[in-house]
Amino acid sequence: MEPRAGRLARFQARGIMRIILLGAPGSGKGTQAQRLVGSYGVPQISTGDLLREAVSRATPLGLTAKAAMDAGKLVDDATVLGMIRERMTQPDVRKGFILDGFPRNIAQAEALGRLLGELKMPLEAVVLLNLDLKVLFKRLTGRRICEGCGRVFNIYTAPAGALAHCDKCGEKARLIQRPDDREEVIGKRLEVFEAQTKPLIQYYKEAGLLRIVDADADVETVFKSIQGAVSGAVAGGAAQP
Ligand code: AP5
Repeated sequence: MEPRAGRLARFQARGIMRIILLGAPGSGKGTQAQRLVGSYGVPQISTGDLLREAVSRATPLGLTAKAAMDAGKLVDDATVLGMIRERMTQPDVRKGFILDGFPRNIAQAEALGRLLGELKMPLEAVVLLNLDLKVLFKRLTGRRICEGCGRVFNIYTAPAGALAHCDKCGEKARLIQRPDDREEVIGKRLEVFEAQTKPLIQYYKEAGLLRIVDADADVETVFKSIQGAVSGAVAGGAAQP
């Protein structure tokens, strides 16, 4: 079999990546999606980010979504699917995409399958970021966001000084906590993941697309594991443990 480095180089040269990052709240989907954007130049499509933007602009969609989000529940499928269809038909998506936080249940996965069929953009892999509940809880309670630029920090792992001055926008950081990262909401989000999103693991396993990555490691190690899993998918190799 072709060595992993060769597969990866071939994959990077092809320049197309169509993947889903699947994982519980706090498993590192957003962090890893950003790293993948930096390396592969394909857009990150995060339904959570799209919804938060609608909330901050107080659009009608945002006003409807806010109550569900603050309570740790899913926003209704019709709203999310409408947003996804609009985003997935924009020109930059032709070179690939990293779906982060979508799909979230079987109905959304089926709708995505139909949409990608229409657009003739088949999925290459679904990467599950696997992480223990205890670690998820700590990552979520420790997450802070720079109010100026949106950079994500964690109070448990940020280097000394990083929490005082944001290294992205350079401003004195005004760190805020996401409303749904409060302890009382995190429990509900994890419950929703177990009940509604976890069945997607079996769904994509049966479709032959699932790759499982151990997300209980530092950001760089997890990133390398994702690269390995994805390059294996493109080469048709089995990257499953
Ligand atoms: P969304 O924004 O998608 O939230 P989520 O899935 O709950 O995921 P998070 O953003 O909380 O975590 P993440 O996995 O991205 O982790 P991160 O990289 O930030 O959704 C929010 C809400 O919107 C939902 O509850 C729902 O209401 C609604 N919604 C969204 N999509 C929807 C859909 N499709 N249908 C219906 N409703 C929808 O990392 C977390 C923390 O850990 C950070 O502090 C980070 O710095 C740190 N960290 C990351 N990686 C590591 C590492 N390797 N080691 C140590 N620390 C790390």
